[in-house]
Amino acid sequence: MFISFEGVDGCGKTTHLELLAARALQREYSLCRTREPGGTALAETIRHYLLHSQDSLEPQAELLLFGASRAAHVSQVIRPALARREIVLCDRFADSSVAYQGGGLELDSGFIRAMNDFATDALKPDITFFLDIDPQLGQSRRTNERADRIEARGLDFQIRVRQAFLEIAREEPQRFLVLDADQTREKLHAEIVGILSARGLDLK
Ligand code: TYD
Repeated sequence: MFISFEGVDGCGKTTHLELLAARALQREYSLCRTREPGGTALAETIRHYLLHSQDSLEPQAELLLFGASRAAHVSQVIRPALARREIVLCDRFADSSVAYQGGGLELDSGFIRAMNDFATDALKPDITFFLDIDPQLGQSRRTNERADRIEARGLDFQIRVRQAFLEIAREEPQRFLVLDADQTREKLHAEIVGILSARGLDLK
């Protein structure tokens, strides 16, 4: 089963991915925990460049770097893990390109979707948890960290990102689930476990 987590910056998705991973391990499931951009040496190098480079980078070049990292990640990490019947927990995936480079940077979303299909050979998560939060609240949750290149784009950018995520939810309501991230960690974790149990992954 392929599960991804999405959300605007500061939504808490990494915490929830970790909580879910700990629970699945307790139940003795085999897991593959991974993230985008990342997961392979090339993809981690691209990640470092995309988040921390001071060079100017065209939006088109940025998008294609996310695509390149995704192609390597899917072929070298995600597909082999799925073939071993592991549960793949991925911190962000292709939907982030639609939301950040499509909604945020206003690049053509048709092209981004085609790029994602090309990079992944049309692989999609079985289920995606979108941890929805007011972008302003998300920003205030991480005031003690220094903003990376993408977080530094500010509130209006994050608002467009959120709108693009919500549009995906309207298009694919079975796969892309919107969860209220402005609730206690315990309640949200219980909601995630309940949804997965209803879909055949027994975590209770
Ligand atoms: P992430 O590690 O999830 O950062 P955070 O935990 O701070 O949310 O993601 C890194 C950044 O990369 C994040 O700002 C979103 C961005 N991103 C894109 O712009 N496009 C993409 O396709 C992906 C996967 C991530």
